[in-house]
Formats: sequence, C-alpha cells, structure tokens
Amino acid sequence: MVKGCIFDLDGVIVDTARYHFKAWQRLAIGLGFDFTEDHNERLKGVSRMASLRILLEVGGLTLPEHEMLKLAAQKNAWYLEYIMKMTPGDILPGVPEFLEKLRIAGIKAALGTASKNALIILVQIGLSHSFDTIVDGNRVTNAKPDPEVFLLAAADLNLSPADCLVFEDAIAGVEAAHRGGMRCIGIGSPAILSQADKIIPDFKDVTLDLIEF
Ligand code: BG6
Ligand code: MG
Repeated sequence: MVKGCIFDLDGVIVDTARYHFKAWQRLAIGLGFDFTEDHNERLKGVSRMASLRILLEVGGLTLPEHEMLKLAAQKNAWYLEYIMKMTPGDILPGVPEFLEKLRIAGIKAALGTASKNALIILVQIGLSHSFDTIVDGNRVTNAKPDPEVFLLAAADLNLSPADCLVFEDAIAGVEAAHRGGMRCIGIGSPAILSQADKIIPDFKDVTLDLIEF
C-alpha cells in the first residue's frame, strides 16, 4: 500500500511552463534569436542552468560562465515578475481535492521539485501548508533523472522508497522516480510519458483507487 505521495511542482501542481517559456523567450529575443514552444519542451524538469545551456545551444552561442550566471539571474527576475501574479486559480484541476483525500486517508504528501522558486509559488497559490515536506532545487545537488530529490523526500517522510509513489509530468522525472525505486504516475500525454506506470491527463475526479496498485 502506498504510504506517501511525492509531487513534482511545475506541470503537476501548477502550470508554470508558460511563464518559464515567456521568460526564456524574452531572453532569447534579447540575444538575437527565437525560442519556440517546441524548444521549450526540452526544458521541462531541467534545472535553471541546464535550461540556459540548452537555450544557448539553440541560439548557437557559447558564453563564459559569468555571463551565463547573469543571464540566468535576468531570466529568473522576469519569471518572478510573472509568478508573483499567480493566484489559487492557477492550481491545476483537481489538485486540492486530491491532496485533501490523501490527508483524510492518512497518506503523506511531499513536494519534490527542481525549482528554487517552489516556496514562492506555493505561497502564491495558497498551498504552502499542504505538504508534509518540501524538497526543492535549493536542497538538491543532482538534477533529475538523478533520484536525489525523491529519495530526500521519502527520507523526510520516514518512508522507504517502495512505499512512495511519484507524480511527474517530465520524462526525466519519471526516470528519477524509477531509479529511486519508486513507482510513478505520469501527468500528461501517454505519447511523452510512456515509461510511467500509469498515466492520467490531470487530477480531475481522481479517487484514491488510482494509487492502489
Ligand atoms: C522545473 C521546471 O520544475 O524547475 C523547469 O520544469 C525549471 O522548467 C526548473 O527550469 C528550475 O526552476 P527555477 O524556478 O529554479 O528556475
Ligand atoms: Mg514538472
């Protein structure tokens, strides 16, 4: 039986991909090239600096580390402008209801995300008290598909990985869950998340039957 659920943030709890995209595109345009939604798909689940490296590769640019750090800071400043306007209305459908079902059933909930802005986002959308533990990009050294983020979350919950279930929208996240010895439910398209143990489009009308397998 599942004793703990670990949730990715971006694309699982909230749709922040469009804000990341807006900020990355603004940066790319300033650097003189275009960055499309297709390119943006490659950034899902990827850390901020790794995302910047992919963006620069798209633009055919190589820059020294100190310039890259400045660009990443600029992108994050724009991203923060956008996410500071988020409200509970930005939570993806069915998420609060599902978290409440877990709480009533005594199943623990953790957040496991690469984002360093996780707490700001949770406060904006009113979910900062909805998780038993939060493991974010500030606590993790190795990015997904390394399982570090999920293993830390399981340890915080005092659970063994086999008792935990991960919810992820990114291929790297599904791989991270499996490498950590956890099962994973994909949120999104079966075409992208074929490696997940189960796939659902979102949390709308989801019951606890979903996690009994
Ligand atoms: C992941 C997102 O959750 O967090 C990525 O899917 C993002 O797109 C990464 O780059 C890091 O986020 P942040 O907020 O620390 O820049
Ligand atoms: Mg995600």
